[in-house]
This record gives sequence, structure tokens and C-alpha cells, in this order.
Amino acid sequence: MTVLDAPPALLQVRGATRRLGTATALDHVDLSVDDGEFLAVTGPSGSGKSTLLHTLGGLERPDSGEVLWQGEDLSRLSDAELARHRLLEIGLVFQQFHLLRHLTLLDNVLLPGLLARNEPRAALRSRAGELLERLDVGELADHGVGEASGGQLQRVAIARALINRPRLLVADEPTGALDSAASDDVMGALAALHAEGMTIVLVTHDPGVAARADRGVRMVDGRLSARAAATTLPATQGPPRRCS
Ligand SMILES: Nc1ncnc2c1ncn2[C@@H]1O[C@H](COP(=O)(O)OP(=O)(O)OP(=O)(O)O)[C@@H](O)[C@H]1O
Ligand SMILES: [Mg+2]
Repeated sequence: MTVLDAPPALLQVRGATRRLGTATALDHVDLSVDDGEFLAVTGPSGSGKSTLLHTLGGLERPDSGEVLWQGEDLSRLSDAELARHRLLEIGLVFQQFHLLRHLTLLDNVLLPGLLARNEPRAALRSRAGELLERLDVGELADHGVGEASGGQLQRVAIARALINRPRLLVADEPTGALDSAASDDVMGALAALHAEGMTIVLVTHDPGVAARADRGVRMVDGRLSARAAATTLPATQGPPRRCS
């Protein structure tokens, strides 16, 4: 394959600008995310990290500039189409888990699968159970949000993010509310997913967390600069696989 017919990046942001109130949250940001990559975004509070992540995940649209998903401009999608793209292609993980308290943990994982309406409920239920097992919280399936620790809840939230087999996982300070042991568990889970080919973009204030990614970028005042990751993980063998 020549450079000319190389496939487009999984996700590419070009010249994205976003004003929020009086702040320029994104200031002509260019960023490319390749299939299978694990990227960490760091930077001071208010520098635009969450805005960038929301833009990558299709939660927000830039005021100007482009967001290309496999070469296709997301601005062409209607709000409903963008919501469907988010549901099917993007797994979202937040600092405060955002799990629903009136559902069991298994039903929390199931919910985006039911919303997608792509698979029968029974198949989704067994997949949700498998994901919880895989994230070492299988025994909590029938429990509620109030019966699990923060680290367990974040692993349930990761299981939920995976239910529709997304191509990209975006995580906004996923360890920001966790103690160091729980943080290690969550990062171990993300590293294992990455090793299987999952593409991950993660925002963090924690240098130890950022060091687990294979590339780092830093935001300051809405602008992005390359930052060498503290460690370089070995490349995964062969082409990236989708996590099943
Ligand atoms: N809804 C909003 N209305 C007005 N200004 C906003 C809004 N959301 C974010 N901002 C501003 O946009 C800028 C970028 O915010 P953003 O939340 O992306 O930063 P961040 O890097 O994620 O910060 P933190 O590390 O504190 O989470 C900040 O100046 C913030 O005050
Ligand atoms: Mg933020």
C-alpha cells in the first residue's frame, strides 16, 4: 500500500475552534487518532480537555473546523444521526461514572445495547454479564450502585461503554475520583482493552495514568501541543482487532 492509498485516520480533528462563554475552549485544534492508539490528554484545569474529548466523542460540535470519522465529516450528520454514531461507535467513560441508581449494575450495562436495538435482549444480557465478568465485577451484576466501591463502579461503567462494540473509548478523568489501588485496577482494565486493539483517548491530571498511554498531548488555553509520553508501550501484534 502506498502513502496515497493509506486509509484515513480513525478520527481527525482539523482546525477545531469552540467558544464557551468568554473562554476559547478549543483554539484551532488539529489532532489525529489512529486505529488502535492509546492517547493521553493532559493540561491545566480549564484548558479545554473535556471540550476536546466531547468533540472527539460527538457529544459537542465545534463552532468551526472539522471532525472526520474515518474520513467522513461528522458535521454532515443530523443531531439524530450524530447521537446514533455516538451510541454505536463511541464508548464514553466519565469521572463520576454516571450510572443510573434505580437500575441494577447489569441493567446499566445493558441499557445502551437496548437503545441501539441491534441485538435481541437475551444476547445483550449475556454479553453484559460477560463484560462484567471480564472487568472483574461479575458478582455485582444484580447489585445496585450503592453497593459497590468507586473502582468497581468505574469498571461497570467501562463494561457499559463496551456493550455496543465501539471503535473508540473516550474517558474523561476515569481515575479522578478513585484511590490509587482502584485507579490501578481501572488502568489495568483499560490497558488490557488497548492490548486487544481498542482505541482509547483519555484525559487525566495524573502523570502516572498518562504514562500508561502510548502517546501524550497537552492542552493549554485551548491549544494542543505534542508531549512525549513517559513510556512507550510495545506495539500490538498485527492489525487492531475489535474487542468482542
Ligand atoms: N458551559 C460552559 N459555559 C461557559 N464556559 C464553559 C462551559 N464549559 C466549559 N467552559 C469553559 O471552557 C474552558 C474549557 O473547559 P473544559 O471543561 O473543557 O476544561 P478542562 O481542561 O476539562 O478543565 P478541568 O481540568 O477542570 O476539567 C474553561 O475556561 C471553562 O471555564
Ligand atoms: Mg474537564
